[in-house]
Amino acid sequence: MRNGLPIVPDNIFILEAQSLSFRYAEVSLFRGLSFALSSGEARAILGPSGSGKTTLLHLLAGLLALQEGDVRWNGQSIKGLSEEALARRRLSYTGLVFQHHYLQAELSALENVLVPGYLSGQVDPAWGKELLAQVGLADQAKLLPKALSGGERQRVAVVRALYNRPKLLLADEPTGSLDRRNAERVLELMLTLAAPLGTAVIVATHDEHLVQGLPELRLA
Ligand SMILES: Nc1ncnc2c1ncn2[C@@H]1O[C@H](COP(=O)(O)OP(=O)(O)OP(=O)(O)O)[C@@H](O)[C@H]1O
Ligand SMILES: [Mg+2]
Repeated sequence: MRNGLPIVPDNIFILEAQSLSFRYAEVSLFRGLSFALSSGEARAILGPSGSGKTTLLHLLAGLLALQEGDVRWNGQSIKGLSEEALARRRLSYTGLVFQHHYLQAELSALENVLVPGYLSGQVDPAWGKELLAQVGLADQAKLLPKALSGGERQRVAVVRALYNRPKLLLADEPTGSLDRRNAERVLELMLTLAAPLGTAVIVATHDEHLVQGLPELRLA
């Protein structure tokens, strides 16, 4: 307490990339890349095909071993974590969305959304249904992925990624397989759902128009 007021802790970033460098053999993708994201912030990672967007997201998600530099989640380096500890932390801390939805074909839309809940031991069908309703899919909850349109499948994938209320959502070309109208809708829904959860969002895309207005990080 200071002057009767609680001391507000320094802002702890949801995600910090510190001096990241990465290369495949003789190809250097980025050198000394640093940035930080606070709760609720969104950032677009832009760059042409082959510039390293997917590689960067995999480093940020702890899916690819760091070469140089560090990645911190909530102030904690992910470097020292064992594979098992990292996997457990990733499940609760992050949500991932890819270009292809990767829904499980034999599970309904709702069951797919609940998968992160089964993995983390927090199964809450009412929350899953609420999320589906928020993306306009209340009536499709029982359908299998094959009975959904491409845009609907991607909306299910977005909702699944947010099910555990992650601090960080990492989306890699999440609308790459959709037409313009659906792409805009999915991105808009993703940002709208993430905001009240305080989830920081990173969207990697080569589509500059889609992410107009978001602060950006450019890979060459
Ligand atoms: N496992 C690997 N081994 C060697 N080179 C790789 C490997 N994975 C990716 N690369 C190369 O690294 C570069 C960056 O790839 P990455 O997939 O990160 O780019 P990207 O920006 O996501 O591209 P796109 O927009 O096409 O998805 C490419 O030249 C790619 O060929
Ligand atoms: Mg990519």
